Amino acid sequence: MKRIITLNVNGDDYEVAVKPNDTLLDVIRYELKLTGTKKGCDIGTCGVCTVIMDGEAVLSCLILALDAQGHKITTIEGISTEEELHPVQKAFIEKGAIQCGFCTPGIVMTAKALLDNNPTPSDEEIREALAGTFCRCTGHIKIIEAIKSLIPEQR
Ligand code: FES
Ligand code: FES
Repeated sequence: MKRIITLNVNGDDYEVAVKPNDTLLDVIRYELKLTGTKKGCDIGTCGVCTVIMDGEAVLSCLILALDAQGHKITTIEGISTEEELHPVQKAFIEKGAIQCGFCTPGIVMTAKALLDNNPTPSDEEIREALAGTFCRCTGHIKIIEAIKSLIPEQR
């Protein structure tokens, strides 16, 4: 049986009808039609479904929509405007850290959460943050370069 819940996504409240086992990922993609967040493994191993919840990167395929109530959720659509990409997105483009783009929203959100919480991460901290993400085209080298280009001392 479905229940009506309110989810706060990208600063807006949405009322949605969800089943007890609906994941946040499925509600974001199929109810809210925010398809920038990708669906890959659906079991918490690839990172493409990463969104930011209350400032932390989380795997939306592992969170029940019911449990996301009362939290502030940000998806890839919420970090840029029609006119301007987010600095992390710009850095990924500048450093060639994108090929097919399927992993990109999840990794950009992972990188954003990392830099928001720790603007000067060490190489190890960057690798640790990326540990739950996969990029089958580019690998992590260009992605790490892109993240490092956003660290003030290394510009
Ligand atoms: S779809 Fe969530 S980790 Fe792969
Ligand atoms: S750019 Fe294709 S999987 Fe990362």
